[in-house]
Amino acid sequence: MSLLKVDKINKSFGTLQVLHDVSLEVEPGERHVIIGPNGAGKTTLFNSITNHLPITSGTVHFEGKDITNLPAHRLVHLGMSRTFQKNNLFGDLTVEENIHLALAARKKYRHDIWYSLTSRSDIKKETNEILEEWKITHRRDVKINNLSYGEQRLLEVLLAMASKPKLLLLDEPTSGMSPAETTQTSEMIQRLPRSMALVVIEHDMDVVFAIADRITVLHHGEPILTGAPEEVRNSDMVKEIYFGGGAKKHA
Ligand SMILES: Nc1ncnc2c1ncn2[C@@H]1O[C@H](COP(=O)(O)OP(=O)(O)OP(=O)(O)O)[C@@H](O)[C@H]1O
Ligand SMILES: [Mg+2]
Repeated sequence: MSLLKVDKINKSFGTLQVLHDVSLEVEPGERHVIIGPNGAGKTTLFNSITNHLPITSGTVHFEGKDITNLPAHRLVHLGMSRTFQKNNLFGDLTVEENIHLALAARKKYRHDIWYSLTSRSDIKKETNEILEEWKITHRRDVKINNLSYGEQRLLEVLLAMASKPKLLLLDEPTSGMSPAETTQTSEMIQRLPRSMALVVIEHDMDVVFAIADRITVLHHGEPILTGAPEEVRNSDMVKEIYFGGGAKKHA
């Protein structure tokens, strides 16, 4: 059974149809990358899967359960987590405080008042583990607004992972990053445990081919090809549509 099964999703904004019969299956532990030109509907596909936007028609199943109309916040508890194309962090709080909040949300402590979170030893311990594992202990007391853009994006991925999801959706994790930050993020993604399946929207082809088991190419809201990286790399149709025939780097 697929971990995620998207079946014939259609999504329109008024008269603009953005997704056309999009179907997609993701297996447990799979690294599935979605590529496609700007405006192809990639973010809209994520918003449809996680129900941040109501779809026009189609279904979404997670571990066999119909989640088509499930509110977005319920998905975390089922084991699905995501990041957004724009940062979703608390800018006035520190790195450590943001991690506390992400862990608290997973443990359903969110109704507790703030000071009680920081006194919970399980949250403290796990926060320290995350800080150490990802080598950001020295940044723990820095406010988000004082982190570099790349650091913020990395932290967002770490926080989405903190809920230990079975499926993590990453929307352009490397966008706006320096080459060094992009490499760091790509390596981090490759280090993620296989207990977690990934669907990653990505434009950087080095990152795409470094992480993908399978790639889906979205073009004008239609999945024109899903296949192994080599298949996508060698597809004349993809070269023409996505790379404009001019991108030789990976061709
Ligand atoms: N909330 C919205 N209301 C109206 N139109 C929208 C909305 N969200 C997206 N669109 C339109 O849907 C189309 C697909 O947008 P989407 O953001 O999904 O593309 P994308 O593939 O993620 O692009 P990018 O690579 O630039 O992030 C675009 O034409 C966009 O203008
Ligand atoms: Mg997008």
